[in-house]
Amino acid sequence: MRRPHVIMNAGMTLDGKLATVAGDTRISGKEDLERVHRIRAEVDAVMVGVGTVLQDDPRLTVHRIPSQRQPTRVVADSLARTPPEARILSDEAPTIIGVSSAAPRERVEMLRERGAEVVVCGSSRVDLRCFMERLYDMGIRKLLLEGGGTLNFSMLREGLVDEVRVAIAPVIVGGSRAVTLVDGEGFESIDEGVHLRLRKHYTLGKDLVLEYEVVR
Ligand SMILES: NC(=O)c1ccc[n+]([C@@H]2O[C@H](COP(=O)([O-])OP(=O)(O)OC[C@H]3O[C@@H](n4cnc5c(N)ncnc54)[C@H](OP(=O)(O)O)[C@@H]3O)[C@@H](O)[C@H]2O)c1
Repeated sequence: MRRPHVIMNAGMTLDGKLATVAGDTRISGKEDLERVHRIRAEVDAVMVGVGTVLQDDPRLTVHRIPSQRQPTRVVADSLARTPPEARILSDEAPTIIGVSSAAPRERVEMLRERGAEVVVCGSSRVDLRCFMERLYDMGIRKLLLEGGGTLNFSMLREGLVDEVRVAIAPVIVGGSRAVTLVDGEGFESIDEGVHLRLRKHYTLGKDLVLEYEVVR
């Protein structure tokens, strides 16, 4: 299958949360945020699920380090729920939104009017394999997956992730409703899980960075 090389990255608490129950995401330190921006500057695209767009309204640009180029922003958004005023639709960088054929026509039209390229894949939810193939055909060879936990699970389950990088911050926040690195339905056995090989580990400011490759 033709698809981009996908790096999943997140800053998480020691207990694996990507945000607190109240949605606070100020988890990893300044050095880690700069690390993420250095990866953004190297890849062709940065992707999130619409849950992250609705919750955090991220820009997904490179602005913490000097950079000549901005990656394309990518959203998996089955029903075209991305709001017209979302910062991801700013003119700082191109934006591609993956929707399903269940997305209301007027929402899709609005996103196109706001300058986004809209790609239709899947009938009720975005078919991620189709979407990755379309992104590859649009020239995206390297993609940084930045969450959240729901999209991360689907991407892992579909076998679409090649590398996992996490910055573990020395803090615990708990909360059974707090988003974790990987949520979704989960795998029933360890055998079915996504197995990884540790490639690199180092401390960065107060955080610990772990870099894995997915073992197939
Ligand atoms: N610390 C960090 O590094 C970090 C990074 C990112 C996010 N976060 C946090 O994570 C939270 C959001 O995570 P989340 O899990 O709620 O949302 P998410 O993973 O960002 O988005 C999930 C949504 O994506 C859409 N989607 C489209 N196609 C999909 C598919 N095939 N599989 C799965 N989802 C698909 C679904 O909505 P539709 O069905 O409507 O399409 C789904 O509800 C926020 O609190 C944010 O702050 C933290």
